[in-house]
Amino acid sequence: MKWPQKKYSLSRKKRVQILKKAFYNVFYLPSEAVYLDLLTDSGTGKMSDKQWKALCDGDESYAGSRGARKLKHSIKELFGLPYVLLVHQGRAAENVFGNVIQKEKGMLILGNTPFDTTRLHIESRGGIIIDCTDQMPLKPLVNFSRRPLFAGNLNTVKLNKELIVAKSQGKKIAYILMTATCNSNAGQPVSLSNIRLTCKIARKYKVPVFLDLARYAENAFFIKSCEKEFSHLSVKEIVREMTKEADGFLASGKKDALGNIGGFIGLRSPELTDKLIGEIIKCEGLDLEYTSNKGNHDQVGGYGGMSGRDMEALNQGIQESTNEAYLASRLAQVERLTKALFNIGIPVLPPGGHAVFVDAGSFLPHIPWNEFPGHALTLALYLEGGIRAVEVGSLMLGRDPLSSKNRRASQELTRLAIPRRLYSDRALKHVVETFKIIRSKADKIKGVKIKLEPVPRHFRGAFEWK
Ligand code: F0G
Repeated sequence: MKWPQKKYSLSRKKRVQILKKAFYNVFYLPSEAVYLDLLTDSGTGKMSDKQWKALCDGDESYAGSRGARKLKHSIKELFGLPYVLLVHQGRAAENVFGNVIQKEKGMLILGNTPFDTTRLHIESRGGIIIDCTDQMPLKPLVNFSRRPLFAGNLNTVKLNKELIVAKSQGKKIAYILMTATCNSNAGQPVSLSNIRLTCKIARKYKVPVFLDLARYAENAFFIKSCEKEFSHLSVKEIVREMTKEADGFLASGKKDALGNIGGFIGLRSPELTDKLIGEIIKCEGLDLEYTSNKGNHDQVGGYGGMSGRDMEALNQGIQESTNEAYLASRLAQVERLTKALFNIGIPVLPPGGHAVFVDAGSFLPHIPWNEFPGHALTLALYLEGGIRAVEVGSLMLGRDPLSSKNRRASQELTRLAIPRRLYSDRALKHVVETFKIIRSKADKIKGVKIKLEPVPRHFRGAFEWK
């Protein structure tokens, strides 16, 4: 754990200028101007000494590199799927997967709320998302409780109904996607019983199930600690149980797998694997698997857009990712920050995995949803404390791809993501102090107007904030 290393000599006056220069968009802020960077937990974690050591052992061969073979072996062992392909990060997996599986416009994708790049990949190919998340919107906590609500779960009654309707109307269903943990619903986990039931329903309708497992370890740890019937299993065993009945999974390697870069796909079908290999070679880099011949799988490699050293570091990260002492301390840190904010009266959602989610809609009730309270609070956090957070609400949701109308999110949130193994609790105390300042002038915080709206607007837009 370390203190933030960024300069904190910046005055508030200077931050006013910096925000203006960044078009009131935190993605345009230079990182040197940020004191506590809670923008994301993706690729921002600290590598362990063992990961650094592994990095130096990188074999940069184009084909058959040692790192790729080891990495694929570890992924197969942990997740239990026979075919594994490598890509350079999660959205690259979404891209090649979409190219293969979403061959026509208008295909339906059912599931819990997908992450924003996942949504972009689905919708840019003309896909239609049917959100079956069970508990949404989540209410801010009234009493502090450590237990997650498993609010990433799918409402299986709704899922069943939607499948019946879609089938009766002859609509094409591409797949069901379960994101675990569900980043877009406050990082809440999905229970193992819900995964199993979803797979059972999907089989009845012959629809494949894929999981987005960017945060597989946190999800498994929540299952172990809060789903009684599985508490006797280790986190590693639970990860295997999570994938047991699914047709495959996509994963960013930049979150729970503790990589600064990387991604991977696990599959059961050799035919789908073959098609994806073609796409990966076209879009990412070489990757190979024995599918039509029965070679020794431990011999095939590739690199899928990663360098040899990155594959070594990711392989080591995957070994460390399921360490239960580490997971307990990480999730406890997120929980402590959530509780500290709750204790000073900030409306927070139940603690999920990787981040604290503040209900900006109820914290800043004078700001209408289409002036993005979550973004206004994000700007205030930078202005008052040099903290970089991010909006998760109507700004991020963007416009409806068909009607171009602004979509209203079920909740206007501000996310403070906690990078892995990076900040000490003392450093995070600064968040609480900054919230105290913001709380004292909350009613004066203004809404945000969009000035320029390139797609995706939350990453690229320019805003006005007076
Ligand atoms: N799926 C989920 C659930 C994610 O949270 C992310 C990224 C991706 C896929 C895409 O992976 O970044 O490796 O391309 N989430 C980051 C975040 C960016 O800040 O939550 P990627």
